[in-house]
Amino acid sequence: MYINKLKIGDVELENNILLAPMAGITDLSFRMICKKYSNPGLVYTEMLSSKALFYNDQKTKKLMNIDGEKKPIAFQIFGSDLEVMGKAAKTISEYADIIDINMGCPAPKVVKNGDGSKLLQNPNLVKDIVKEVVKNTNKPVTVKIRKGWDKDSINAVEIAKIIENAGASAITIHGRNREEYYSRTC
Ligand SMILES: Cc1cc2nc3c(=O)[nH]c(=O)nc-3n(C[C@H](O)[C@H](O)[C@H](O)COP(=O)(O)O)c2cc1C
Repeated sequence: MYINKLKIGDVELENNILLAPMAGITDLSFRMICKKYSNPGLVYTEMLSSKALFYNDQKTKKLMNIDGEKKPIAFQIFGSDLEVMGKAAKTISEYADIIDINMGCPAPKVVKNGDGSKLLQNPNLVKDIVKEVVKNTNKPVTVKIRKGWDKDSINAVEIAKIIENAGASAITIHGRNREEYYSRTC
C-alpha cells in the first residue's frame, strides 16, 4: 500500500487512508479509537439527515459531537431538497472541515424520499444539489456515489462528471450498484 499525503480542496490530509462513513458505527468514540490505532487522514461522521438539521433535531445534533477530536473531520449529509440541503450545509460548515453528500445510501427509507442512491436516477437534481451545497459553504464539498442504480443502469462516470462540473472537490465511488446493497462481488 502506498501512503501519500492527499489534498481535498484546501484541506491537506496527513495520509490517503480514509475511514469510510458508516451509519450506526462511525460515532465519536469509534472515530477516536480508529484515530488512536491507525491514524486515518480523514474520518467521516455518520450520515446526517439534512431535514433533521433543518428542523434542529436534537438526536442529530448528538451525531455531530466532535468534542476533543483531532481534525480534519468530514460531515456527511443526505437529502434532495435544495433549500434544506443549502441550510444544512450552512449549519455544519461551522464544525466540518469537509462536507460530503451521500448519494449512495441504498436503504428503502432513504430512497423512497428520493435521497441517497435514488439520486443516481436524477442527474439534473444531482447537479443542482451539489451547486446548492457548494454555494452555501466555504468548505470543500465531496460526494459519495455508487456505480449506478442497478446492473442495467451503471452511470457512475456520467454522474461523476456532473458532480465535478458542479464544483465538488472529490468523489468517492462505492463499487456496487444500489441493488447490491452491501454484499455480492463488486
Ligand atoms: C454498516 C454500514 C453502514 C454504512 N453507512 C454508510 C453511510 O452512512 N454513508 C456512506 O456513504 N456509506 C456507508 N456505508 C458504505 C461504506 O462507507 C463503504 O463505502 C462500503 O461498505 C464499501 O466498502 P466494503 O466493500 O469494504 O464494504 C456503510 C457500510 C456499512 C457496512
